[in-house]
Amino acid sequence: MLVLGIETTCDETAAAVVERQADGQARILSNVVRSQTDEHARFGGVVPEIAARAHVDLLDGIVASAMKEAGVGYGQLSAVAAAAGPGLIGGVIVGLTTAKAIAMVHDTPLIAVNHLEAHALTPRLTCALAFPYCLFLASGGHTQIVAVVGVGEYVRLGTTVDDAMGEAFDKVAKMLSLPYPGGPQVERAAAGGDPTRFAFPRPMLGRPDANFSLSGLKTAVRNEASRLEPLEPQDISDLCASFQAAVLEATADRLTVGLRLFEERFGTPRALVAAGGVAANHAIRSALQDVAATAQTTLIIPPPALCTDNGAMIAWAGAERMALGLTDTLEAPPRARWLLDANAKAPAGHANSRAGY
Ligand code: KG4
Ligand code: ZN
Repeated sequence: MLVLGIETTCDETAAAVVERQADGQARILSNVVRSQTDEHARFGGVVPEIAARAHVDLLDGIVASAMKEAGVGYGQLSAVAAAAGPGLIGGVIVGLTTAKAIAMVHDTPLIAVNHLEAHALTPRLTCALAFPYCLFLASGGHTQIVAVVGVGEYVRLGTTVDDAMGEAFDKVAKMLSLPYPGGPQVERAAAGGDPTRFAFPRPMLGRPDANFSLSGLKTAVRNEASRLEPLEPQDISDLCASFQAAVLEATADRLTVGLRLFEERFGTPRALVAAGGVAANHAIRSALQDVAATAQTTLIIPPPALCTDNGAMIAWAGAERMALGLTDTLEAPPRARWLLDANAKAPAGHANSRAGY
């Protein structure tokens, strides 16, 4: 089975061709990603209008490169998959419409993939992991703990009630005048800082649910930064280190609860899987390693290029759905919001529209 996957929900324009063999094994034939970071950097964050226009300009060329690199013709495709949400609606429309056009012209099935489902199924692309497993997804738009029970069967065990984790890193970077995207900058600055200099709050610590909250922590950093003005480089490092220490402790606590909730409902997970840009953070990786060891499960973090937004994960999710006969019609709608777990409700106090709870 050969599937073309298209991803345009945020600021990466991406396309890939993935092969799924009858035994479920996967092979990535091409995976072309063009990040728009430079276009958005001077605004300190992703500007939806700029993203949508860039997707229009870039996508045709990127799809053509992905097909060429894979060495396959459109007639050989078993399906074309696109991320149909959740995400910035302008970009979603560009990707989904392109996929529909290809599906129509080449008389190929269309698969409208939930972007979060694609993140959730990525470890099956890289290491043939069996269900059920526990996913920790932490990116610029999402912070969730999800029980991945089967293809199309996801139970959200925890989510952020306000900012996404990557968003908190980006906002802290911005208030300290570090460039966008802020996560790697904060991590770098934190390496030379004192994590004990500021006692920032550990939001939600000890709560019986597995939800996150990050906006109070971010505000605490802002208050401390304005109190210290003008900031010396050491202040910036200490603020970053103290912020990151609070995120680490909160993450370990929330995931420990999340894994306990998982165990109660689904038994021992086959693995704890981390995905999303924040999973690139080395301090967070080592905290996750400890959490997994304590819970007697294995930590799996797909390679960075497959952890962040890419076309291969969309193609793979499309292939997994296709294998179960789950295809869509050309009426499939683009969706700004699309819960992975249809039964999940907004958590109490949910305040942020970007977090996509
Ligand atoms: O998954 P991703 O590439 O894109 C989406 O948001 O969908 O995640 C990007 C986010 C940004 O907020 C970025 O600051 C954060 O991941 N990030 C990091 C690190 N690298 C990227 N956060 C903390 N530490 C990092 N090293
Ligand atoms: Zn993503």
